[in-house]
Amino acid sequence: MITQTEYARRRKQLMAMAGERSALVIPAAPERIRNNDAHYPYRQDSDLLYLTGFAEPEAVLVLVPGRSAAQSILFCRDRDPRREQWDGPRLGPEQAPQALRVDDAFPIDDIDDILPGLLEDRERIYYPFGRDAEFDLRVIGWINRTRAQVKGRAEAPQALTALGHILHELRLFKSRAELRLMAKAAKISVQAHQRILEVCKPGSSEFEIEAEILHVFGKHRSVPAYEPIVGGGSNACVLHYRANRAALNDGDLLLVDAGAEFEGYASDITRTIPVNGAFSKPQRAIYELVLAAQQAAIAEVKPGNHWDRPHQAAVRTISAGLIKLGLLKGELDEVIAEGEYQRFFMHKTGHWLGLDVHDVGDYRVGGEPRVFEPGMVLTVEPGIYIGADEKRVTKRWRGIGVRIEDDVVVTKDGNQVLTDGAPKDPDEIERIMAARAA
Ligand code: GLY
Ligand code: MN
Ligand code: MN
Repeated sequence: MITQTEYARRRKQLMAMAGERSALVIPAAPERIRNNDAHYPYRQDSDLLYLTGFAEPEAVLVLVPGRSAAQSILFCRDRDPRREQWDGPRLGPEQAPQALRVDDAFPIDDIDDILPGLLEDRERIYYPFGRDAEFDLRVIGWINRTRAQVKGRAEAPQALTALGHILHELRLFKSRAELRLMAKAAKISVQAHQRILEVCKPGSSEFEIEAEILHVFGKHRSVPAYEPIVGGGSNACVLHYRANRAALNDGDLLLVDAGAEFEGYASDITRTIPVNGAFSKPQRAIYELVLAAQQAAIAEVKPGNHWDRPHQAAVRTISAGLIKLGLLKGELDEVIAEGEYQRFFMHKTGHWLGLDVHDVGDYRVGGEPRVFEPGMVLTVEPGIYIGADEKRVTKRWRGIGVRIEDDVVVTKDGNQVLTDGAPKDPDEIERIMAARAA
């Protein structure tokens, strides 16, 4: 759980970064229609969630650093017993200051009247523009209203700046409470992947495996952090495969990329297992290569190393291994320099992880790859994908797709893998699957 003290501290830090001549406008995520009058499940905008923990739609947080009156102001939906009968309880502006420790709160319907006044005297407005075209126009409208109102009396806003510049720098470094939630999300996902080892067998299907995953997530009060990828056989080679409809065949591999989101925080695990419980020789060769690449990459995650180091380690291991197996020809340095390896390993080795599965935070600073610091969390996820139609390799390699993905925290002395409870040693996977059949 994130305490209200922590949310208040985050807002204070952000306001200090923005400076006293600024104001910050952070809207809730819009509700989205799925079809007719049915909605997609509502998920709060991660920036607003980070700053308040407030999960309701139709809200806007406004921060006005250094203002003598209220500095943190929430606009939210009014209480409405008739609407609440249909949609459930609302916090309401009367309760918000006490519940969320904001300085003041107003009904969202009054925002057009109140917000322009809050922007007076402010040179710079921080706002996450480009996410919601409709809201972008409203923000510009409020700024224009402010300009008209002040008419030279005060400094009207001159600059609109991407909120992410400052806020996402804060979000990149996880607090102890955030790391606890991420460890919990990881643990739930680990249980889901363990469950797959119990139930996967020839004749079952991708959607049944997906159902098992969702069951474990739901039982632990979590939701999928992203649509699970459950790909049998050559479906594993489709990087964002989401159809999850095919049967699982004897002799194929199954790639499952599925992670739970717990109290807003994501986890992201991929495991690849043999559908029948035993790797074939070519499958094992590719699997062991990906695992070696992942281990080499994880070893590079430590303070002082730059962001590209895990990827470079994975690329080197995979390239050398593919040459050795005869899947790539040429000298190692050439295969790397020419990007030949990308025929089989065409994505990066990871991404930041946090409230978003592909979390915010710059990967480069001043043109240089970012240096790891304690509190950052990232995934490490090399893979090798040999399409079923890959005519340039002999038949026995075709249709093999393997990815192995873990969630890794940068610590003071190195790193901590949050997801290592999900088996990835090939002997251990075979042992568990064999024991279950017995
Ligand atoms: N599940 C998305 C990813 O691995 O990046
Ligand atoms: Mn990932
Ligand atoms: Mn993933």
